[in-house]
Amino acid sequence: SDIKSTQITWHSGTVTREERAKLLKQTGATLWFTGLSGSGKSTIAVALEQVLIQRGHPAYVLDGDNIRFGLNAGPKILMDTRKYSETSAKRFGLAFSAEDREENIRRIGEVSKLFADSGLICLTSFISPYRKDRDAARAIHEQNKSGAIPFIEIFVDTPIGTCEQRDPKGLYKQAREAVAAGKGMGFTGVDDPYEAPLKPELTIDNSKLTIEESVAAILNFLQDRKLI
Ligand code: PPS
Repeated sequence: SDIKSTQITWHSGTVTREERAKLLKQTGATLWFTGLSGSGKSTIAVALEQVLIQRGHPAYVLDGDNIRFGLNAGPKILMDTRKYSETSAKRFGLAFSAEDREENIRRIGEVSKLFADSGLICLTSFISPYRKDRDAARAIHEQNKSGAIPFIEIFVDTPIGTCEQRDPKGLYKQAREAVAAGKGMGFTGVDDPYEAPLKPELTIDNSKLTIEESVAAILNFLQDRKLI
């Protein structure tokens, strides 16, 4: 039967965020990386996570490709590995339509907020092409019931030409071929939109900076904000 949301009650814990911060010696935060496929989001996030851990800061990366194998698996993966019926797989699996990307980002917005609320520095690496979806993820953090959680939007601003030259998974090539064949693929930057952030907390020009320099820039920012 239908469970109405009015039958659900919010329970607050008794451990405060201050107590968690004291234990972990840091305030939790979400570092939200956004940028085109092949822009270097994941490479920077993974390198930064490594440095943070080495310096004693609990941190954890949520990565688009990886999350799309599990929590946000697509219909095919759900049918193959979890034996969902076709109807359920289509209903719960996420692909790359605007609606599915919105749901992908909504779930990650919620999950990253939980990680950050627990005191970790959560690094998320998703294209997150729509401004309104990134703003919604930000709102989830800022309107958190037990107090606002820092949300740092980091735009990995790599020109599409560079991303396409790298093409680590051959997806740009596939997308161009699909467009040339008149089919299209809905690939971000080729035949699907990417809305660049208007006021990100940080912009990383990945075509000019090395990975080490990008990581250093973000570490500086975190120190200035007293997040580490
Ligand atoms: S989104 O838009 O934020 O929901 O996308 P995300 O979860 O980050 O997944 C992006 C990765 O999926 C692969 N891929 C596609 N990207 C964009 N458009 C289409 N149609 C598509 N199909 C598959 C691609 O490898 C992306 O990986 P990254 O790591 O970003 O290069």
